[in-house]
Amino acid sequence: MEKHGVPTAKCLKVSKENLDEGYKFLESVKAPYVLKADGLAAGKGVLILNELQEAKDELSKMLDGKFGAASATVVIEEFLKGIEVSVFVLTDGEHYVLLPEAKDYKRIGDGDTGLNTGGMGAVSPVPFCTPDFLNRVEERIVKPTLKGLKAEGIDYKGFIFLGLMNDGGTPYVIEYNVRMGDPETEAVMTRIEGDFADLLFACADGRLNEVHYAKSDKTAVTVMMVSGGYPEAYEKGKVMTGLDTLKDVVAFHAGTAFDAENEVVTSGGRVIAVTTHGDSIEEARTKAYREVEKIHFEGANYRHDIGLDLMRMQ
Ligand code: GLY
Repeated sequence: MEKHGVPTAKCLKVSKENLDEGYKFLESVKAPYVLKADGLAAGKGVLILNELQEAKDELSKMLDGKFGAASATVVIEEFLKGIEVSVFVLTDGEHYVLLPEAKDYKRIGDGDTGLNTGGMGAVSPVPFCTPDFLNRVEERIVKPTLKGLKAEGIDYKGFIFLGLMNDGGTPYVIEYNVRMGDPETEAVMTRIEGDFADLLFACADGRLNEVHYAKSDKTAVTVMMVSGGYPEAYEKGKVMTGLDTLKDVVAFHAGTAFDAENEVVTSGGRVIAVTTHGDSIEEARTKAYREVEKIHFEGANYRHDIGLDLMRMQ
């Protein structure tokens, strides 16, 4: 990102060899301090610390294997403040389309409390993603990113998931993923009008500039139902009832299976994502919770506040 002029947090990669440089970098940025394991850590390798000494101590512990081999190298980042949003791009390497954006709710508990999860719900569109904001995303992030890929000799066709921070109307990149997001996809896909396969064929053929693509004006709200205990240990095999009573929803089965009696049972932590639509967040979330309450299984858990923060912002 630095090389290709994409706005992001200031950062430094630290290993045992340049630990002193890491300490100096921590002294040069303001609290809170963000330490990220550079390797894959199942979404758990990030620490956000308020005290400088604590940050230095944790940096040293991470390099000593706090997250195993994943933290043999640690990225120290300047803390970005603001609200996160996920923006999705489909590119054929030359052209791109901006798919609908979504806000994800990552913590397990209401009011953004508790452990990080794969995502407990999503809302699309996101009210602060005004045409002006999205224009800034395209000019400052999407275009330099695609130009950067080309400059690096990477012929990339597919999705780019931009994890962004909106700091007072200015977008910064927190992360890129080369996939869609979960549970953002469960909201976003339902707002793409027309034949999605056409978009994918056009992407593969380098014709994304030729296809017609439109987004629905409806608001989609997705609520993820999870097993009790998730994101830590949870039990499987709980019989699910109420699925045949759902109305006007798209219910995405994630961690479900049939048992020997052909009943639907839970078979994972993230069990089912329920998406509904409305003319406003309020309407869509009222419907979503009405339907979620019809689904029963032992230990079922979900967040009750998906979309509330965005409604308060409107
Ligand atoms: N919901 C975040 C992700 O898919 O990475």
